[in-house]
Amino acid sequence: MILGIESSCDETAAAVVTDDGRVLSSVVASQDELHARYGGVVPEIASRRHLELVSPVVRQALGEAGVELSAIGRVAVTRGPGLVGALLVGLSAAKAIAWAHRLPLVPVDHLQGHVASLYLGDEPLEPPFLCLLASGGHTLLLAVRERGSFERLGSTLDDAAGEAFDKGARLLGLGYPGGAAIDRLARDGDPTAFAFPVARAPGLDFSFSGVKTALLYAVRDLSADELDARRADLAASYQHAIVQALVQRTRRAADRERLQRIAVVGGVAANSELRAALPDVSFAPLSLCTDNAAMIASAARYAEQLPYPDYLGLDVYASAA
Ligand code: KG4
Ligand code: ZN
Repeated sequence: MILGIESSCDETAAAVVTDDGRVLSSVVASQDELHARYGGVVPEIASRRHLELVSPVVRQALGEAGVELSAIGRVAVTRGPGLVGALLVGLSAAKAIAWAHRLPLVPVDHLQGHVASLYLGDEPLEPPFLCLLASGGHTLLLAVRERGSFERLGSTLDDAAGEAFDKGARLLGLGYPGGAAIDRLARDGDPTAFAFPVARAPGLDFSFSGVKTALLYAVRDLSADELDARRADLAASYQHAIVQALVQRTRRAADRERLQRIAVVGGVAANSELRAALPDVSFAPLSLCTDNAAMIASAARYAEQLPYPDYLGLDVYASAA
């Protein structure tokens, strides 16, 4: 059994996963409410909260799985990319647990973790496939030809898709994080009411700054009453532009790479319009789309483990290698 720990952003998470990919427990303590008043994640506040939560969350994950630490074979932890202070809390906790129990440690790349969310459960996905990873921090098109690695085909030139959702939500007065709020509001709106630009970056890259600016101007041009009346239309049109950009690039990448199967992971994979627009595509289960530790433990099955005690000097990294 693998104990996974994730603390790269504002979720403190721990999970117990078996070597054959069964999730025995997956505990996620979200800090959303703590950061909402600032309209985004404040790194120092996130680090302090991780410090308070990491021990109880690990204990809860072991408790829900019904296992003792003595039954754990290795500890997996997110090493990066993410907020350095936040990552250090998870890595330090993982080192301490592994060291105290003389276990090996598996440092895991957060992006590999998101992809490995597809390898859990009863119907794990088999490579090769094209993967769209769309979260608050990343928007990537990946060619996955074997478990444990991927080739990067495209990325965002500015904001990540989730970030675009969050910034749009802020402009619409929906609070933080705003992806799910836009998703809900958009159901009552007309996606063709506003003609927001669908990003046209070269090749397989994304750009979301244009649509964000278009929303900003549309909101500015409306009176407070008009804004109230048209909020759902704005949300629906804005979401539509982002989803179309994601869908078009993803299809193009799959065609270009001759990959028949497509999968979507990351927080934005929870979006209902995206799911409806890609009916033939594999989506990770909702609970595994947003940041969690089960996906980190899953990725550890395909990553190199460091034997006790060779990991004590290990450091985190902030940006993708
Ligand atoms: O994967 P994740 O939990 O964290 C990162 O690694 O960034 O993704 C969080 C992002 C946020 O930007 C959030 O607004 C977005 O995923 N998100 C959504 C939905 N649910 C979460 N975006 C669009 N529609 C949703 N239903
Ligand atoms: Zn993530």
